[in-house]
Amino acid sequence: MPSVGFGCYKTPPSSTTEAVSLALRAGVRHIDGAQDYGNEKEIGRAIRDIGMQRSKLFLTSKISNDNQGELRKVTKSVKATLKSLDTAYLDCLYVHSPLPGSNLRLSTYAALQQLKEEGFCRSVGVANYGVSHLDEIVANGLDTPDVAMMELSFYNQRRGEVDWANKHGTKVVAASWSKLSGGFNWGTDADFKALNEISTRLGLTKAQVLVGWCTAKGIACVPRSGVGSDAERRAIEENSEDGLRRVLGERGMSEEDVRTLDGMEQRLTMGRLGRTDGWREEDVKGVGWDLSTVA
Ligand SMILES: NC(=O)c1ccc[n+]([C@@H]2O[C@H](COP(=O)([O-])OP(=O)(O)OC[C@H]3O[C@@H](n4cnc5c(N)ncnc54)[C@H](OP(=O)(O)O)[C@@H]3O)[C@@H](O)[C@H]2O)c1
Repeated sequence: MPSVGFGCYKTPPSSTTEAVSLALRAGVRHIDGAQDYGNEKEIGRAIRDIGMQRSKLFLTSKISNDNQGELRKVTKSVKATLKSLDTAYLDCLYVHSPLPGSNLRLSTYAALQQLKEEGFCRSVGVANYGVSHLDEIVANGLDTPDVAMMELSFYNQRRGEVDWANKHGTKVVAASWSKLSGGFNWGTDADFKALNEISTRLGLTKAQVLVGWCTAKGIACVPRSGVGSDAERRAIEENSEDGLRRVLGERGMSEEDVRTLDGMEQRLTMGRLGRTDGWREEDVKGVGWDLSTVA
């Protein structure tokens, strides 16, 4: 899995083809989609327009809560996703959320394992799962997930889930829930000063510091940006693996800087309104909104 991808959440269909095309041109080879994002056709169009060889791309989708259920129902939704994306297979198919409850998430997960056997996807993932949901998979005798995506940043390091993943050979992908956006100024004053110092000294935006921190820790990430302004378009390129390498070189972030960022854990489980990231007031459930603890 390419360690830095591009996320398509909150990207309206009208800008998705342009945004994904920019990401692909910037060398991004991991595109993170979902049935719920409503823009799979436009992702497919970008890949087709660029003429990207399918085997060079890591393409994902997620089974929406509405499509969770038994194999037939899940398969029907996956076939529709494959058609929209104009692809024969997904590199990873995730269960999008644990919210629908134990029975539905287990049958959906089992269906995805079956679809992997049948070649619909190369790997199976779970998103927004906490340790109890991950343990539930094992307790039910199912194979452990290949990938676990979770809201993760140096402000919310998910050490329990990350330890679980490391123990079970599950790859962690960070979705930062808008931590990339805005001024990054909701840490303590001392944290913010330290973050500022790192970003100024290294010549990175604070968003790139987060991407660099993930990369240094072996955590994949799928940053998102829009195409509404030059700054947003620039961020797509800056937040890519090549964009980061251009500033940091091959060595990446130093151990010392990673340690400083590691010290900023505050279990901050929710994003804040970004610059123009599509979050509406009603989308923001408040600090503490956390799917990893739902029953
Ligand atoms: N599995 C799940 O349930 C789940 C949940 C959330 C996200 N995800 C995945 O993770 C991806 C990432 O999305 P996210 O919601 O977690 O948000 P994110 O990537 O943490 O942040 C996106 C926001 O950061 C802003 N941004 C990017 N670079 C910036 C820069 N240099 N300066 C200032 N702002 C910058 C973007 O603003 P502009 O648009 O203005 O550039 C956008 O508002 C999603 O697209 C999705 O693929 C998955």
